Amino acid sequence: MRSLDDLSVAGSVAIVRVDFNVPLADDEHGERVITDCGRIEAALPTLDYLRDQGAQLLLLAHLGRPQGGVDLALSLAPVAQALSEFLGTPVDVAESIDDARELLGRTGPGGVVLLENIRFDPRETSKDAAEREALAAELADLGDVFVSEGFGVVHREQASVTDLARLLPNAAGRLVHKEAKVFSQLLGEPMRPYVVVLGGSKVSDKLAVIGNLIPRVDRLLVGGGMAFTFLAAQGYSVGDSLLESDQIPTVKGFLEQAQQLGIEIALPVDVVVADRFAADAQVKIVHADQIPDGWLGLDIGPQTARRYADVIVDAGTVVWNGPMGVFEMEPFAAGTLAVANAMASSAAMTVVGGGDSAAAIRVLGVDESAFDHISTGGGASLEFLEGKQLPGLAVLEEEA
Ligand code: 3PG
Repeated sequence: MRSLDDLSVAGSVAIVRVDFNVPLADDEHGERVITDCGRIEAALPTLDYLRDQGAQLLLLAHLGRPQGGVDLALSLAPVAQALSEFLGTPVDVAESIDDARELLGRTGPGGVVLLENIRFDPRETSKDAAEREALAAELADLGDVFVSEGFGVVHREQASVTDLARLLPNAAGRLVHKEAKVFSQLLGEPMRPYVVVLGGSKVSDKLAVIGNLIPRVDRLLVGGGMAFTFLAAQGYSVGDSLLESDQIPTVKGFLEQAQQLGIEIALPVDVVVADRFAADAQVKIVHADQIPDGWLGLDIGPQTARRYADVIVDAGTVVWNGPMGVFEMEPFAAGTLAVANAMASSAAMTVVGGGDSAAAIRVLGVDESAFDHISTGGGASLEFLEGKQLPGLAVLEEEA
């Protein structure tokens, strides 16, 4: 994989595919505001480097999943504003490819243009390679080199991720380079004991990753909504907790496979249950095999949190993907906080899979610098852990 140092960028227009798919919410004035700028900040070293080298930047990014056309609620305008503050330079939003050409013509070295949500053009995500290639050719015509810096989308076969990379001299940006290195290390020779903490709501989203991890890890610690399908697979009653009953046979298979291999799959021994899904619900802590009918589990209990923290502190490598509970509500945040704090204080190599767990660290105020790596990729980091080849990385390995 070529790195930025292999590209000659001075005086060029560098087209940079970034992942600025950031969470947005309406503020008290009804304005769309970014609630977590992590993905924007993660791209800054590459953007600063390219500008310092005298390149002009055309940034390509998506926001959400527009259904085949322009959707103003998914405009990148708030991103452009945040980015211009981070970079200390104006960032113009180009509404179209023609508009981008004109704006690039007006800015000089160091100038930054952000093309409006690339997914407003349905060719970006088309399953028809010819359609994607046609869009990629129009984009390639705007620049001289291509930099892949959107790790969060490298698992997508999309025009601005894969097809465009084939049309220009290309390289991985600093972020993509680091993410690829860290995840390759995890699949290769992780320091042992190798512990993976898996949470999040649905076990069905994590089946492939669990299947690929069981033969590789020493311990799998399970929390979050998905834990209840594991508890049900052990014959426990889980009340009104999140349950995917159709996955029970698969989960039983995982438990059996782990036992045969001598791998521990740790499940909650106690649970924080509530009488409804609300921050002001009635709450109590119960043993995992005593969840009352009509109550739902919304966090791992304190005894489980302590057990998981002890395992994390003694590990050689810890990977964490998915919150342990509904951390956005204060009564159900303790389990996620305990895992985050244990990782922050562990001497192990600590990697946080992106998405909700990365957001949890920031929302709960845990020191980000205490982790070795916080991935910006949600789906991409999971697919990496599943052992899949990611098309946006594979294309960077192709002959130039
Ligand atoms: C993400 O948020 O994981 C990436 O930006 C990819 O988005 P997508 O799942 O809509 O392709």
